[in-house]
Amino acid sequence: MSEKATLNVGGKSYEFDVITGSENETCIDIQNLRKESGIITMDPGFGNTGSCYSSITYVDGAKGILKYRGYPIEEVAAKASFTETAYLILYGELPNPQELRKFSARLKEHAPLHTNLEHHFSGFPREAPPMAILSAMLNLVSCFHPEVLEVPTTGEEFDRTASLLLSKVRTISAFAYRMAAGKPINHPNPNLSYCGNFLHMMFSDPHQEYEVSPVVDRALNLFLILHADHEQNCSTSTVRVVGSSRANLFSSISAGVCALWGPLHGGANTAVMMMLEDIKNSGRPLRYYLDKAKDKNDPFKLMGFGHRVYKNFDPRALILKEQVHQVQKALNIQDNLLDVALELEEFILKDDYFISRNLYPNVDFYSGILLRAIGIPLKMYTVMFAIGRMPGWIANWKELHDHNQRISRPRQIYTGETTRSFVPLTER
Ligand code: CMC
Repeated sequence: MSEKATLNVGGKSYEFDVITGSENETCIDIQNLRKESGIITMDPGFGNTGSCYSSITYVDGAKGILKYRGYPIEEVAAKASFTETAYLILYGELPNPQELRKFSARLKEHAPLHTNLEHHFSGFPREAPPMAILSAMLNLVSCFHPEVLEVPTTGEEFDRTASLLLSKVRTISAFAYRMAAGKPINHPNPNLSYCGNFLHMMFSDPHQEYEVSPVVDRALNLFLILHADHEQNCSTSTVRVVGSSRANLFSSISAGVCALWGPLHGGANTAVMMMLEDIKNSGRPLRYYLDKAKDKNDPFKLMGFGHRVYKNFDPRALILKEQVHQVQKALNIQDNLLDVALELEEFILKDDYFISRNLYPNVDFYSGILLRAIGIPLKMYTVMFAIGRMPGWIANWKELHDHNQRISRPRQIYTGETTRSFVPLTER
């Protein structure tokens, strides 16, 4: 007999199924609670609420475990390319050589943008934030491909749309950077790899083709792999909420980009670098910043620390820290921001406030230093996160449809005025 949970409220007893996931996670299925009792549950920020069943990514925050489709992140990061990882996340299995070739060919085929779409870039002000451009342009792509507005979630048409999006996000991101830098755009080169092509579109000059170093290519692959999915985080939940109204894939993902932008989520990678620069330039002792972060009357937070799910360590941060050392050594780079970061981490890991709250470096703490080492400009850091997260967003959008999930519609507890009589303007 399956396990049950009992809730006693107002002298009445209600019974609910207890559900166990494939990694033995437990939840109480309260779907019928309101129907049976008129009662709802309250969980602002959804820290305790399961919103879906998913077979894409597993995170165990207490043990610092992250797996994509059952494969530990450490193995995927060490052995896969980003293209292979994207395939795994989208389709649930590792591709065989033929499947990978076909997938890569599709990514190459979809890399160019429609000429009319290219013209839109010149309409943005020079200082426009690249995340705003990315979100707007992703929505706009669907106008040039009206067939994708009705995206089926399986079959050839889905495969085509998913690879179109994965490919175009890279071209749009690079064009947004070139435009903001006042430089001419570089069209995609079909002979280059996914990451190589991005680097070419970012950094080639009309008379000087960017030479892709294997160290930089590998570091970029690794960065994107580590960001490829992370179960029901803020932006992925946004994609699912928007998609639950049966909005098309492009508009759902465009909303995900906006959610990612915030400094508590993907924007943290930029905020970390600004914080490290500030610490370095201010000449103030680290203790000053720690005290500020602990002060409840001060909005300052130590960016790159803490996580809703990881309460031990973030495995992605460990991999990135190691990669930063390797890349800096291979490229003979000395970055004093790394010294500041290492010293800050050491301080924090010994501090009672942070220890008692389980606050450790998260993925965003070392990712900026890695991006800086491979030449990516600060303005583009959160865009890089968005390129990496694309497979996860698409896979979650697809899964939502495969499961025919209901429209997202949370409830609330009303705390406003009760019924009042309307007073005409002349009497107020
Ligand atoms: N600096 C100082 N105090 C912190 C920090 C921090 N970075 N993070 C959490 N705390 C405190 C928080 O004030 C609270 O203290 P108390 O119990 O005394 O009220 C306690 O730690 C628990 O934190 P919480 O508010 O329950 O954490 P949350 O799950 O709501 O928020 C977070 C998680 C990541 C938004 C938060 O830790 C944070 O703002 N970190 C800095 C921003 C950041 O690095 N974001 C990237 C997240 S990882 C990648 C991603 O998903 O985008």
